[in-house]
Formats: sequence, C-alpha cells, structure tokens
Amino acid sequence: MNTVNERITAIGVVPVIKLNNPERDAAPLAQALCAGGVPVAEVTFRAAGADTAIRLMREACPAMLVGAGTVLTREHVDKAAAAGADFIVTPGFDPELVAYCVEKGMPIYPGCTTPTDYHAALKFGLEVLKFFPAEQSGGLAKIKAMAAPFPMFKVMPTGGISLKNLKEYLSCPVICACGGSYMVTADLIDNQKWEEITALCRQSADIVKEARQNG
Ligand code: 3PG
Repeated sequence: MNTVNERITAIGVVPVIKLNNPERDAAPLAQALCAGGVPVAEVTFRAAGADTAIRLMREACPAMLVGAGTVLTREHVDKAAAAGADFIVTPGFDPELVAYCVEKGMPIYPGCTTPTDYHAALKFGLEVLKFFPAEQSGGLAKIKAMAAPFPMFKVMPTGGISLKNLKEYLSCPVICACGGSYMVTADLIDNQKWEEITALCRQSADIVKEARQNG
C-alpha cells in the first residue's frame, strides 16, 4: 500500500466536507479535525473554491492529509494538485480520469459499487476503492459479497455512515476507512461549531480504536 492509503487506514474515518466560506472556515475546521484525532479531509468540489479550501487547510495543519472529493473533470484534478491535494476521490468510475491520476502519480479513490466497476479498477492497479453511496447501494452485505470475487481490494464506504453504524462497518476487514459528513455537516460548519466537530471526531476516533481492537 502507498503511504496515503496507509495513513487513511490508520485514521479510519474521512470527513467529507463542503465548505461555502473557505477563507473564514478552512483553517479552524482543519484545526478542529486534527484536535479530534482525525487529521484527514475530503474537500469536495461541490462548492466553488474547493482548491482554496485545500490550500488553506494544508497551511493550517501541514501534517494532515487533505484530499479533493467530487472530482468530475481533469480541471478539478489539476486545481486540486496545484493546491497541494494528497488524493483524489471521484463519485463514479471514470477510466480516463483514473488513468490521468495514475499517470500523475496522484492517489485516486474512484466510486465503485458493481462487479463491472471493480473489474475496471483492476486494470489500473488500484488497491483502495470508494464504495459509494454505501448504504443506498447495499451496504455491508454488498461489500462482503463483492469481496468474494475481488479480494484484492480494500474499500472506503461513504454515504449513510454515522456514529450508529461506523463500528459495524469498520469491523469488516475489507474496509480500510469510512467516509462521512456527519461530523462536518453544513450546520456545524456554517455556524462555526468547532468544538462540536472536534467532539464528533473524538467519538469517531474512539470507535475506530474499538473496532480495531476487537478485530
Ligand atoms: C459523499 O459524497 O461521499 C457523501 O455525500 C457523504 O455521504 P453522507 O453525507 O451520507 O455521509
């Protein structure tokens, strides 16, 4: 596994973030995540200025991993790379975009939920796939079923994950980390509830530890 995969696996949860006001919120948000023991972020291109947010989060917490999410085009990849992104996440499997990232040496986690997606991912030597949207696509039962023919992949399920089901997901050995927005909701960010975000991250980090100890 490459270093980014290993670091994401060690952290165990990946906050999926939409930042409407990066100049105001990126730095305190990065600090809140790190203070809660979750030094990683997937900053989505669902909001304009995602690249600014990535740059500001990196500057605020140089040791944290900052990736770009909802990456749909080469332009997004280029902007994310220029801002210093550590990894790219795409909602679906776009072979051209995957090839573009692989050529650049940029770690990419494409959204995959079907045997066809997994099969396509094999050709690119990927080790970790995003399983998205997780709950809506069949959840843990589907992840386990997919691991039978494709035992070479680890997955990062995202979509419908919360403090309620995090431990169950993380107890499955196929899963290296879970993505989610529950600790960085629009309400928490727009109202600058940094302490609450830190508390939710701490709770998540404790669940990661518990799941790993039991596993
Ligand atoms: C994503 O883009 O990965 C999801 O929107 C996050 O899903 P969640 O909001 O259900 O956690």
